[in-house]
Amino acid sequence: MNPAFPDPHPGGPERPEVSIYEVGPRDGLQAEAQSVATVDKIDFIDRFAAAGLNPIEVTSFVLPTWVPQLADSAEVLDGVRDLAPLRMPVLVPNDRGLERAQKANAQTIAVFVSPTETFARKNLNTDKDGALADAEHITAEALGSGITVRGYVSMCFGDPWEGKVPIEDVLSMTRRLLAAGCYEVSLGDTIGVGTPGHVRELLEGFTEQERDRLALHTHDTYGQALANVLAGLDAGIRVFDSAAGGLGGCPFAGSATGNLATEDLVWMLEGMGISTGVDLSSLAATSEWMAKLLGRTSPSSVVRALSN
Ligand code: HMG
Ligand code: MG
Repeated sequence: MNPAFPDPHPGGPERPEVSIYEVGPRDGLQAEAQSVATVDKIDFIDRFAAAGLNPIEVTSFVLPTWVPQLADSAEVLDGVRDLAPLRMPVLVPNDRGLERAQKANAQTIAVFVSPTETFARKNLNTDKDGALADAEHITAEALGSGITVRGYVSMCFGDPWEGKVPIEDVLSMTRRLLAAGCYEVSLGDTIGVGTPGHVRELLEGFTEQERDRLALHTHDTYGQALANVLAGLDAGIRVFDSAAGGLGGCPFAGSATGNLATEDLVWMLEGMGISTGVDLSSLAATSEWMAKLLGRTSPSSVVRALSN
């Protein structure tokens, strides 16, 4: 807890530590209309590291014409190399992306799949089985070259084109990524439609052993992200994805909006007696700085409250 701020829930119960997986430089910036200079992206990541965040997903090696905002991925990765041994995963969609990540000396990559056909097509220009086969193949190649691999399953709760996503489809896809050798699989609520009841129902479908290797990736479209984290904590999840300042969203997901803000997550966790190791005041200052660069205010309640 940062001593500069009051404890929002004094006397909260002690709980085991959880880990925050910061996606601000990747998910956070991939859909911004305003492009951010490479030097500012590197500064953004440096500031996160100084604030105690680890891991930080720093960029993606996707098709630059699809996501021009992250076309400078090799330069960004090169610019933060000195931060190692910090874990700095990069998103990789296919063989070509893996080749580029290997050339840039990435140590950890993240592969991503969808349990719905429409989003697989819109996000990866293939069908869901093809995307899964690609992810398995990339994972094997990466592991063979000493690169560790995280997995994402997107649209775990609802899909803007197909509606509610069957839990069985999410379970089977997640299990395939775990079996392929992903050290962790993050369950994505890409468009932020999940609710605590749905999170609980989905997580109950996994075994305890499987839940130990899962993370929850929430977007705050309907204001449910923190409540969903609580449901995840209750179900035994200990890794939560978030983006500083509440930036983010997938440009190919139709109605997606920002990720859960890391500051809001830190405020809640620390208030519950869960130590995050994150310096909240310096993180919020970083988000204010980035919001100014992007020409707007941060959607994070905690960033706004701390800046008043
Ligand atoms: P495609 O158009 O089908 O690509 O896109 P292709 O295989 O037909 O290749 C076309 C040309 O692009 C070829 O070049 C390839 O070499 C080149 P040419 O022969 O014409 O000269 N190419 C590449 N160049 C650089 N890097 C590459 C690459 N791949 C091919 N990686 C592709 C298929 C998968 C590439 C495209 O659909 C893509 O990049 N998709 C990524 C979209 C994306 O970044 N979405 C956002 C991230 S996912 C997300 O936000 C959700 C998440 O946060 C979790 C959640 O919220 O749920 C993770
Ligand atoms: Mg996302």
